[in-house]
This record gives sequence, structure tokens and C-alpha cells, in this order.
Amino acid sequence: MSDTVKFVLDEERMPKAWYNIAADLPQPTPPPLHPGTHQPLGPADLEPLFPMALIEQEVSTERWIEIPRPVRDIYRQWRPSPLFRARRLEQALGTPARIYYKYEGVSPAGSHKPNTAVPQAFYNKEAGIKRLATETGAGQWGSSLAFAGALFGIQVTVFQVRVSYDQKPYRRALMEAYGAKCIASPSTTTESGRAILEQNPNHTGSLGIAISEAVEVAAKDPATKYALGSVLNHVLLHQTIVGQEAMLQLEQAGDYPDVIVGCTGGGSNFGGIAFPFIGEQLRGKKKVRVVAVEPAACPSLTRGKYAYDFGDTAHLSPLVKMHTLGSTFTPPGFHAGGLRYHGMAPLVSHLKELGLIEAVAYPQTTVFEAGLTFARAEGILPAPEANHAVKGAIDEALRCKEEGTSKVILFNLCGHGHFDMAAYSEFAAGRLNDASYAEGELAMALAGLPSMA
Ligand SMILES: Cc1ncc(COP(=O)(O)O)c(C=O)c1O
Repeated sequence: MSDTVKFVLDEERMPKAWYNIAADLPQPTPPPLHPGTHQPLGPADLEPLFPMALIEQEVSTERWIEIPRPVRDIYRQWRPSPLFRARRLEQALGTPARIYYKYEGVSPAGSHKPNTAVPQAFYNKEAGIKRLATETGAGQWGSSLAFAGALFGIQVTVFQVRVSYDQKPYRRALMEAYGAKCIASPSTTTESGRAILEQNPNHTGSLGIAISEAVEVAAKDPATKYALGSVLNHVLLHQTIVGQEAMLQLEQAGDYPDVIVGCTGGGSNFGGIAFPFIGEQLRGKKKVRVVAVEPAACPSLTRGKYAYDFGDTAHLSPLVKMHTLGSTFTPPGFHAGGLRYHGMAPLVSHLKELGLIEAVAYPQTTVFEAGLTFARAEGILPAPEANHAVKGAIDEALRCKEEGTSKVILFNLCGHGHFDMAAYSEFAAGRLNDASYAEGELAMALAGLPSMA
């Protein structure tokens, strides 16, 4: 066992239930509120957007929620995903740390996103839904839902953030190959999009705006529902299969993590790898340090305010308590589109407030450098979003080297970067800068947070 590189689980050992951290929290998360009345939301308020099965998962406090058989059958296509021991990276860094990474880039769409796209499409299909509308930042989520839609015969419309639509034509082509319709956001298709374009016809878009467009389309058509690729409790729930598998694989390796690292856009891959371990800790097992890594250009967890805010720019979505930069904040167009979101998942935000997780922010050039160090040692070229986790893990490993300690570091390599080569070329040509946001715009967006009675 001592020189094993890849820890694989048999399909039969794939977890049969998702882990719901709500069951183990010392205090519940503050409830989502109705955008108009500011009263706690009831299931009926969410019904125009989501099928009841997903609404039930959103509010559930059951610890284990069974993964339906048809979903498990599809998961089998790429799950259990491998857990690698990064032996060559350890050598390259000269660290005594033991570094493990869970590789989610083996999914058909190339990231962790199908872990939730498939069950979301499944529950919508069960509810008789014909069409789904969604947003995408990096194109990873859009392609994942497009893939899931193709499997279940659901038509998918994706509003792709303008900057990503322009940067990544092949992500768009992939969505279209799966049969989805892809529209650059802001678009003239919706009222929210038109209002933004009237003010600024060259708007680069944001996840907040793309969400508004998708929610508007779903709210106006009873046969269309909305699907979100991150942030919500049920999305993070679906991703916990990642951490549960990692736990079994680390058992094979005879290790348990001292530190867990994940990148955070809306919090889903991070929650997926970390929640099962935090849950064990909350139930009395070993304490783990958990580090969320975000971009310095969109630093919701490290610079945002913990407050009730809208999940979208046009304020069509419920109010949730989260770390936010303000729903009108447009992050600069840096190359990790999946991390360009103004808010953080309420569950992740809550854990940060409870002191159960830490957060750090890095500028994009340092994370691309880390990504290349990783690629040159391990061979896998990470997605720009995943580079944030790589950078976090490398920094932890270098700290171990300085201190002479041999900690176990686990991180989520949430996706590959094969559709992100334009960004890597820009970096190689020295054209990637550390785009920073306008402090004035951030202050304005934060000043505009809804006032709660
Ligand atoms: C590869 C990849 N990683 C991470 C993210 C960020 O989302 P989350 O924080 O929900 O994992 C995205 C989002 O699109 C992504 O495509």
C-alpha cells in the first residue's frame, strides 16, 4: 500500500445517501426570507421555481437522504471518482506533508457539477417538467445541466455570463452538442437583461444577472423550472458524495485529513468535500482545519458582509443570509468565471460565522502559477477555479515544510481546464493581470444591501 498513487473504490461501495449537514449543526442557518414581505419562506413560495422533492431537500434536517436508484445508475458512469496521492507534487515541493486530491474532472462535463445536475434533472423529470432554465459562469455548470437534460429528455436554456461566453466558445459548443440553448447574458430575451443593457450595452455580465434572467424565464412559464448550480442547500447536499467517497478512500490509504482545502464560488464543491468531515467532527470525531479559497477579485467570504441579501441582481430571488459583496456588485472579468459570484452559500457562510472554517483569498496570477506547478508534477491541468484550491493546498504543504510537520492535506480538484486554454495562453504570454475591483463600487453595492426591519 505504501506507494499507492490512486485510491479507487468499487462501484458497489459508492455511497447510497447524501449527507445533510443541517442535521448536525449546533445552530440552524437563518431562514431564507420572502423578497417582498421579508417573512420566512414557505415551500409554496419556492414552487414556481423548483419541484417539491428539491424544496423538501432544501429544508430537510434528516442526516441521510437516499440517492435515488436512477441517479446512482448515472453516477456510475464516472463515480466513484479517484482519490490521488500527489506524490510527485510532494517531491517537487520537497514537503513532508501527505497531499491527497479528489479528482472530479473525470465526469462527462469535466467537473463536480454533474453530481447535482443529474439529480436536479431527475427530480424535475419526475415532476413532469419539460424545460429548465439556468445560468453559467465558467460554462461547467451549463454543460453539466445540458448533459443531464439530454439524459432525461429535458430542454435546457443556459444564460452564459457574457465574459465567459466570449472567452470560452467551446464550452458553449459543448452545451449545444448536448442539445441545450445557450444565450449570452445580459440578453435581450428577458426584462432583467434588457434593463441592464439599456444602462450599459457593453456589460460583461455577472452570475447575479444571469440568475435573474433564468429565474425570470422559469417564473413566467409553468412548464419551465429553474436550476441553480451552487449556493442552495440541496445543491451542496448532492455534492457530499465527493467527501464521503474521499473518506472511504482515505481509510484505504490509512490516513485522515488534518487540513481540507476547497475553492469557493458559491460553495458547492467546497461543501461537497468538507461537509462529511465537518459532520464527523460535530459528532465528536477528529477536528479538521477547513480552508475555503476564493479569488481576491471577488472576495465574498474574506471581504463581504454577513447579511441578508438577494441571490440575483434583479432581486427576483429570495433573501438569504450569507457573506455578500452586494447583489449589484459586478466582479472584474477574471479567468475563474465560476468564482465570480457576489455571495456565498448560506451553509458555508454560517460555518464561517461559527468558526468551523477559515477563508483566504488569492490573486489570479498566483493561482495560475500554482496550477502549472501542479500540472507539471501531476499531469492534470486544473480548471482556473480549481487552481485556487491547488494554491491553497500548496501553501499548506509549504508551511509543513517550514515547520517540519507531516500533515495530511486533502483538496478537491473540482475540474479540468481543457476548455480554459485561452486563459492559460494569456498567462503564458504574461497578459494575465490581477484584476482588482473598484472599491467604490463595492462600497456602493454593500450600502445598497436590503434594510431588514
Ligand atoms: C470547475 C469549477 N469549480 C468551482 C466552481 C465554483 O462553484 P462552487 O463554489 O459551487 O463549487 C465552478 C463553477 O462554475 C466550476 O466550474
